[in-house]
Amino acid sequence: MVVAVLVLVAGCGRGHKADLVNGKTLFVQKCGSCHTLARAGTKGIQGPNLDAAFQEARAQGFGSSGIKGVVLNQISHVRKNSIMPLNLVKGDDARDVAAYVGFAAAKPGKDSGDLATAGQTQVSSKPAVEKNGALTIPANPTGALAFQYNKANATPGKVTISMPNQAPITHDISIKGNGVNVQGPRVGKGGTSKISVNLKPGTYTFYCSVPGHEAGGMKGTLTVK
Ligand code: HEC
Repeated sequence: MVVAVLVLVAGCGRGHKADLVNGKTLFVQKCGSCHTLARAGTKGIQGPNLDAAFQEARAQGFGSSGIKGVVLNQISHVRKNSIMPLNLVKGDDARDVAAYVGFAAAKPGKDSGDLATAGQTQVSSKPAVEKNGALTIPANPTGALAFQYNKANATPGKVTISMPNQAPITHDISIKGNGVNVQGPRVGKGGTSKISVNLKPGTYTFYCSVPGHEAGGMKGTLTVK
């Protein structure tokens, strides 16, 4: 199917000099929670793996601009009832995202130069610290699969863990390990997922239980002592 569409749209999108750094950054923030793309480091599973989707097209020599055309077309012509949001990126941003996927999909190796660091998710270098029984671990606000901390510290006893969510996608805060297994309510943008747990000294994993999000990187280590 991809190949048929390729022939139709291969000529689109000329006349705009693609900014691949912008394209990669936006891809990680807006597309990566649903799509795996190795060079972007994203591992979403709700949509097709884009390396796999364009493997054959790449092998048949359609090239980056052909793939870009398919991606651009998909962004603005999402099928009815798809979970993929329509026009998630627009104008030059859409062209940049499509150009980056065209550049990166099914292409072995790693990004280099400015592209290597583009789209890297910001995670605090410090741990989140519990205070008076409250621990706050916000979701990454951009839509990347990450919390703003990947480490947290707490003292033993009852702790309420809150995850304010400013991301455009649904997340929760959940915790497992050391005899505990609690999943928080899933909340959309503007909501806060909250759980109360009794913690003993030891190590736990905090994560988001939305399918694919933990595997995509949305997790961290909570140390209680
Ligand atoms: C909420 C999840 C979600 C998000 C976010 C999302 N997609 Fe998708 N995407 C899907 C699903 C599911 C499909 C499968 C086809 C369908 O449902 O229409 C898909 C299909 C595609 C396809 C076609 C792949 C094929 O096999 O033909 C491309 C290309 C694509 N998406 C690119 C993107 C880009 C670029 C973005 C970011 C601007 C994005 N998607 C954001 C869920 C998502």
